[in-house]
Amino acid sequence: MSDILTIFKEKFGAPAEAVYSAAGRVNLIGEHVDYCGGKVLPAALTLKCRVAVRKNGTNFVRVAATDIPDFAALDLADLSAYKHLKWGCYQAGVADELQKAGYRLAGCDILYDCTVPFGSGLSSSAAIEVATAYALARLGDNPIDKPQLAVLCQKAENNYCGVNCGIMDQFASANGRAGHAILLDCDTLEYEYIPLDLQDCALVLSNCNKPHSLVASKYNERRAEVEEALAAVRGKFDAANLAAVTPAQLEACRADMRPVVYRRARHVVGECARVAESVRVLEAGDLAAFGKLLTASHISLRDDYEVTGAELDALAEAAWAAPGCLGSRMTGAGFGGCTVSLVRKADVEQFIQFVGARYRAAIGYDASFYVAEIADGIIDEADV
Ligand code: GLA
Repeated sequence: MSDILTIFKEKFGAPAEAVYSAAGRVNLIGEHVDYCGGKVLPAALTLKCRVAVRKNGTNFVRVAATDIPDFAALDLADLSAYKHLKWGCYQAGVADELQKAGYRLAGCDILYDCTVPFGSGLSSSAAIEVATAYALARLGDNPIDKPQLAVLCQKAENNYCGVNCGIMDQFASANGRAGHAILLDCDTLEYEYIPLDLQDCALVLSNCNKPHSLVASKYNERRAEVEEALAAVRGKFDAANLAAVTPAQLEACRADMRPVVYRRARHVVGECARVAESVRVLEAGDLAAFGKLLTASHISLRDDYEVTGAELDALAEAAWAAPGCLGSRMTGAGFGGCTVSLVRKADVEQFIQFVGARYRAAIGYDASFYVAEIADGIIDEADV
């Protein structure tokens, strides 16, 4: 805590008033279905974005970070000018959406300290957005509605930053609860907390550390493909969204779509069934069955949705062969980032050695590992 406060004073010349945080997330299952109206099962992590804040009496939001020299001053009277910024774009987008939604915003200084690794697929961007939204809403004395803040953050990313993401990441970052996963219906935004009793197991996150990836363009391409699938299904059936389509309906429309589009839709329909089944087996305490569903999800994302890539496949395949592993899959958008593996606690060290060695042999550089701890999404860390 003292670090972020000390650096705040150095950068802004005055002490912070409060510290808040918003979490990174791991999605347990339900991948690439949020923008199809499906249900997802993410959980918030102790890896998070902390912000130290104070009102500065101007009409500017000034943003800095503990680990990079970048700085931006965002004029609340005209937020349109910051789309090109590498540092400050998310914050400007969030401020813009909050203002458009009628929030009162006060000029302020915000220092970011993020422990969610960038590019890890654990939603460092959602954590930055949600921490920003919460800080701005609090400093302007607005009533706090966490699901609504998540929706505004998603809009910021869609409208301001050009990534056509779904609602899952921001929702998990804002609404996560310690010890629970969130079963979120991305069509209605109804949600419930599912207790995550992992018994003698832990969730191990393995980061493939792939340097550059074209996540945004590939992601937007998948979204276009599933829209194409839905249009084809609607030629024959009344479907609210792709997640509501049954396997039999999809088969009946197979000849009406390009083969690649059919495979994308087959992933979505199958993944939605796996989410429902996961909730059932988790509630029954059947972790072996849950592990198998994780693995089946990865295979579908690899073969039908084609969002894994050599690095994530190497991690998942090593995990499937590793001691004490009940199942493993990529989590998040894919093309890089992390896998999540269900591993017996007693075998975690051996698992990391085993997967780490196989990954290095296959890919040529090291993966990193974190044992996931499930936390609250937004936390009021301190009033200073
Ligand atoms: C990214 C997006 C989410 C979701 C996942 C895939 O994390 O931000 O909205 O679509 O990919 O499940």
